[in-house]
Amino acid sequence: MQSELRTRLLQAFSEADGEFLSGQKLSETLGCSRTAVWKHIEDLRSEGYKLEAVRKRGYRITRKPDKISGNEIQLGLKTEFMGRHIHFEEVVASTQKIAHTLAGDGALEGTLVVADQQTEGRGRLARAWYSPKQTGVWMSMILKPEIPINKTPQLTLLTAVALIQAIEDVTGLTPEIKWPNDILINGRKAVGILTELQAEADRVHSVIIGVGINVNHTKEQFPEELQHIATSLAEETGQQIDRAKLIQSVMIRFEKLYKSYLSHGFKPVKLLWESYAISLNKKLIARTLQGTLRGRAAGIDDEGVLLLETDEGKLEKIYSADIEI
Ligand code: BTN
Repeated sequence: MQSELRTRLLQAFSEADGEFLSGQKLSETLGCSRTAVWKHIEDLRSEGYKLEAVRKRGYRITRKPDKISGNEIQLGLKTEFMGRHIHFEEVVASTQKIAHTLAGDGALEGTLVVADQQTEGRGRLARAWYSPKQTGVWMSMILKPEIPINKTPQLTLLTAVALIQAIEDVTGLTPEIKWPNDILINGRKAVGILTELQAEADRVHSVIIGVGINVNHTKEQFPEELQHIATSLAEETGQQIDRAKLIQSVMIRFEKLYKSYLSHGFKPVKLLWESYAISLNKKLIARTLQGTLRGRAAGIDDEGVLLLETDEGKLEKIYSADIEI
């Protein structure tokens, strides 16, 4: 975890919005000596920040490093609790694993685990999630909602809505949702969500929501077997996307929806989710562990479970499945 002082220093530069901040002002704002300020500024330089220093005026940031880090994400992040604590690592097996450990050790609500690369990224249904370095957003959010276990699938749908809104904000693209948690752009998957729980029979301790976003991959960077089903935001926009900005946007959008969900329930989220869903009213095939069902997606219920009207006219609740449209 980065130091509190460092976070506040970056916050001060962000609020100064490109203006100079004097060493004196910084030491007053941060409540530390000017030598400590200078030391932290040198540390930022060694991490790739470009800082201009002008006598009698002070310092300003002129360029941020072209990499993802806890600092980058927290610089200018205006949230109450989402992403206020960030655990960043360059390479991990899976951010989910780390988030589970931190959650068990009492991590606060909104704690975010982010990695530049995952060597054992995992997806739904025990699949692997391709997570190469310097291209994607691989992160896990730790939440501590006081909700019954049967309501936790709603959080997956809420996350999908927040992700769509954030992607729209940052790229102008309009992704769509394929139930329950695939986010597609032009029919190809750009984002996956994996929701895991730490719970007792009747009580949720933590919900760990893993999010994988294909951001700056070129088509050729995907393994051959993924090239026709996966895409990235850069492929779709033709532009490199700032991953730290994207994460910030996800934090802001998620926090807003999550607060509304905790006070007003699932209904508003459900309406938004339905407005982005492509699977509704479409004929589809649902492959579940119990077998394959064919029919029409009639909607989602108030718990976020898919309602499938089968070709035989029966209404089935689908809790987990692979959906083919
Ligand atoms: C899916 O199968 O669609 C879900 C993919 C979820 C991938 C993310 S990447 C960050 C987090 N860590 C993991 O190991 N998995 C999730």
